[in-house]
Amino acid sequence: MFSVPTELEAKMDEVITHYPVSKRSAVLPLLHLVQEHYRFISEEAVTWVAAKLGLEPIKVLEVVTFYPGFRQTAPGKYHIRVCRTLSCAMAGSYELMDAICKEAKIDRSHSDHHHPIAVSEDGKYSVEFAECLACCGFGPVCMVDDDFFEKVEPAKVGELLAKYS
Ligand code: FES
Repeated sequence: MFSVPTELEAKMDEVITHYPVSKRSAVLPLLHLVQEHYRFISEEAVTWVAAKLGLEPIKVLEVVTFYPGFRQTAPGKYHIRVCRTLSCAMAGSYELMDAICKEAKIDRSHSDHHHPIAVSEDGKYSVEFAECLACCGFGPVCMVDDDFFEKVEPAKVGELLAKYS
């Protein structure tokens, strides 16, 4: 059964007060708080947020599925997002993704639009392609959790992952 710690719920209640006209507008900030705390947004969390805001769960799910930044499955301890938009793709983001998967022992063969996240067997790393991360002149770029890396050479992936062990 999904439950939210008292402190987190208090934070949400405070956020909701910022939207006196329509609680529905609090969906995004509440989802961000959920993802920040649990690292992804489960079905139970969607139902919980919907109940909290007096909405149908589908209304919350629509938001979760619309924004690629929201994760619907659990990531690894460290989550890596690799930009695959044009500039980065031309600069080698697919090669970078392959190198990360090889180094972290991640099988992406089952990843697709509906299952964008692949996790290493030991649960330490996960990967996902992302759309433009707003640093197009310095590709390929990737993010490890909130840390940003530019011009990442596939050959240097070992060094990069070693910072996150
Ligand atoms: S194309 Fe990769 S950051 Fe914009």
